[in-house]
Amino acid sequence: MSNNIKNVKWVYTDDKGSFEWKNPHTLNQLYFPICNEAGIMGSVTPTLHGDATTGQHSFLRLPLVMTDLYNTRSARNFWVYSDRTGAYSLTGNSAKQLSELFTENEKTDVTIKGTFLAHTLIREDREAGIKSEIISFAPVTDDAVEIMWVKVTNISGEAITLTPTTALPLYGRSADSQRDHNHWTSLAHRIEMNDYGLEVKPAIMHDERGHKPNSTIYFALAIGENKEKPVGQFPTVTEFIGEGGSFEWPRAVVANIPPYQVPPNRRDGMEAIGAMRFEAAVLAPGETRGYILIEGVTQEKSEVLRCLERYGSAEKVAGALEENMNYWKGRVERISFKTGHESFNKWMRWVALQPILRKIYGNSFLPHFDYGRGGRGWRDLWQDCLALLLQSPEEMKDTLTASFGGVRLDGSNATIIEKGLGRFAADRNKISRVWMDHGIWPYYTTRLYADQTGDVEVFFTELPYWKDHQISRAKARDNSWKPADGTQQKTVSGDVYCGSLLEHVLVQHLTCFHNVGDHNNLKLEDADWNDLLDMANEKGETVPFSAFYGWNLITIAQLLLQYKKVKKTETIPLFKELIALTGLNGRVDYNSAADKRKRLEKYFYAVNNGFSGEKTEVEIHLLAADLTEMGNWILKHVRENEWIESKTGYGFFNGYYNNDGNRVDGDHEDCTRMNLTAQTFAIMSGAATDEQIKKAFKAAKAILKDPDTGGFRLTTPLGPNTLNFGRGYAVVYGEKETGGTFNHMVVMFMNGLYKRGYIKEAYEVFKTIYALPNNTEKAGIYPGIPEYISHEGRGMYHYLSGSASWLLMTVLTEMFGFRGECGDLVLAPKLVKEQFDSNGTAAAHAFFLGKRVELVYSNPQGLDYEDYKIAGIKIDGSAISFDTDGGKSAKIPKAALEQLLDGKDSCTVQVVLGK
Ligand code: G1P
Repeated sequence: MSNNIKNVKWVYTDDKGSFEWKNPHTLNQLYFPICNEAGIMGSVTPTLHGDATTGQHSFLRLPLVMTDLYNTRSARNFWVYSDRTGAYSLTGNSAKQLSELFTENEKTDVTIKGTFLAHTLIREDREAGIKSEIISFAPVTDDAVEIMWVKVTNISGEAITLTPTTALPLYGRSADSQRDHNHWTSLAHRIEMNDYGLEVKPAIMHDERGHKPNSTIYFALAIGENKEKPVGQFPTVTEFIGEGGSFEWPRAVVANIPPYQVPPNRRDGMEAIGAMRFEAAVLAPGETRGYILIEGVTQEKSEVLRCLERYGSAEKVAGALEENMNYWKGRVERISFKTGHESFNKWMRWVALQPILRKIYGNSFLPHFDYGRGGRGWRDLWQDCLALLLQSPEEMKDTLTASFGGVRLDGSNATIIEKGLGRFAADRNKISRVWMDHGIWPYYTTRLYADQTGDVEVFFTELPYWKDHQISRAKARDNSWKPADGTQQKTVSGDVYCGSLLEHVLVQHLTCFHNVGDHNNLKLEDADWNDLLDMANEKGETVPFSAFYGWNLITIAQLLLQYKKVKKTETIPLFKELIALTGLNGRVDYNSAADKRKRLEKYFYAVNNGFSGEKTEVEIHLLAADLTEMGNWILKHVRENEWIESKTGYGFFNGYYNNDGNRVDGDHEDCTRMNLTAQTFAIMSGAATDEQIKKAFKAAKAILKDPDTGGFRLTTPLGPNTLNFGRGYAVVYGEKETGGTFNHMVVMFMNGLYKRGYIKEAYEVFKTIYALPNNTEKAGIYPGIPEYISHEGRGMYHYLSGSASWLLMTVLTEMFGFRGECGDLVLAPKLVKEQFDSNGTAAAHAFFLGKRVELVYSNPQGLDYEDYKIAGIKIDGSAISFDTDGGKSAKIPKAALEQLLDGKDSCTVQVVLGK
């Protein structure tokens, strides 16, 4: 990253995590999210570029990708004209100001301030005598709007006359219209002006598969802080920029043209812009004037002018801003930490914001996005819920349960989760494919929910299964199914079938357990967690996700036994056909890949040809024993068959088999290959022995660490591109999953190390995770954890990354060791000495059994992890007894806690650590 301008580091300005960054405006890829839960999703750069939308088909401003983030047609601008400066942009976006950008004698200081969740651009131009401040935010109301609160101050010694004009280009249509019928769709625009701005309403929703009536209105309004009305406007781009003009040098401003009394051109069917002109204002030295700009998308015409009533004065906009900041502060503080490392405490608040952002934006709609058409991917939804449910357990229950409705009887699932509960789409791009990791997440996430809330019964909620043309894990097509049949699985007699969530979980795991390749690992199918491994769907196998399924099978068995104990029941119902995938009615040799596949084929045949929907009661203890055996079989298989002792002297786990059925990792003629994913899940699942963990960690440090950045890369170079593994080969080494420091996996690696008791190693990994995005000069992003760190050290794909959710969960449940086990509270701190503050304290705020908990660890003797033990626990001042495992962890039973906390909303748990 090259930025030779003055200052390239942000600093925190309060204890909440607000920050300030001087002169970051020459970083092309820097952006901040502006959004609300009413649905506006935008981004803003230090020069106020960045689009905004409420969805794929309703872009307020021109949709953009990263490399045109500096495209002016998606920029907001606020112009003033004065005799002293001529046309002058408060965002710096004028041809004249841009031409001075890289000169030595730049006279402007630019400061960006960021807080939850508002972005402030301050420019102080001593030569022009103008200081301006523009605060951008989206109010926390039901309005899908973005507000800019603009203040301009005369910092010269004499009076200045300023003529303000706003510039808010309105694109007003589907992202698809950018390349398809772009001009045509602008011809369908109808512009309606009012005293404060304009509305654009396309006459139809253009879609050649079937045009639809359009009800979406895009609007821009401007009002003075003292409710001054604009004196006129230039509502079309043609009028505003003029022939030969541009957004950076618009004729209406440059020539200081008064608004037209008689329009020079047609207005309907034109590209629109919110270019509102205010009366010229004389500002005495030191005097400030303020303006409020509101842009948004709505379905209701009455909501447009209602915005002026809500936000249209200095007092009202200040109120909306305060409400916004209180709201977001409350959201990010639900899980928060206080260690001796102040910057870490603040940084974690930005991390805590990220899962909420991905809930709003999905994986799209910020300039770095993976899939740009909206909706949330299956694995991403479930993993974001890990953090969201820790933050708001009760709110998440419905989302979790409803999302199980996307599971098919073949264990695969509809992959896109749309807005609203239980709404799915089979695949974003209408391709029949299966990501083999998808089956692990619903159980993993719902298990966390059950552990933290004690609500084990959630697994016995009944729900339908998903049904469409795709059967047998996308290897066959049900030609008898028509969309009119609906997307809920029916029995042979035509009734919608419902089964428990646990049954859905078993369908997902038992199908995968039997779906193995020639080396008896689970098939890679169309990819696993790593999206780029998508070209090995015949012979490809994935070792790490075999281990993950194995681990889940074991803990599902434990959950079943817990359920049996709590509910005092001996059996659970499962649909009859599923029993054939268990060992309850006969066994197959798990060492035989062919036998497993045959069994799976039989199951597919049974459910595809007259699914009975009949339920059979099965003995819980027998089922649990069977699942445990399957799980252990996988872990042993991985441990014994996928360990590589490389000629480099290092030992590590193999990750994959490619589409030729060949092992991917290990020693090859050209080099030794290794993959972090394989180490992570072998460790986390329990497949790896202690000896293997130590060796794999050593190998990861030696082979995967980027020598320049110090980050753990996801993989070594993949080798010659033989198109037999995945599109990852096509990506240049050092980026994305192909050798980038891919935070999601690094965080999971750290999680696995903590889980297995390798605290020093986990903390060492943590330090790299923290250091890289916080090395602002290189990373070039605001606080938070990006998807990956490039070989150059740049933070890429900021905000919308699954790594945030995993990090929040890992810091709380592993580093702070605050977690549940089916409602029992487990405290197992894994903090190292340097994480305690000068008083020997480390604290966190979280939720447990629905109560707000303040957790305080005191380490008065300043001991390190190996030396401390839990010496005592007090809840709200009363000492309590606990079961302990050699002093390293303590367990407080759910019943005891419930009694203690009866009638309380919150409590303080104090844990003293001593020798
Ligand atoms: C992105 C995708 C995620 C995928 C991962 C690895 O990761 O969103 O679905 O598993 O790449 O291919 P994220 O940044 O969300 O961790």
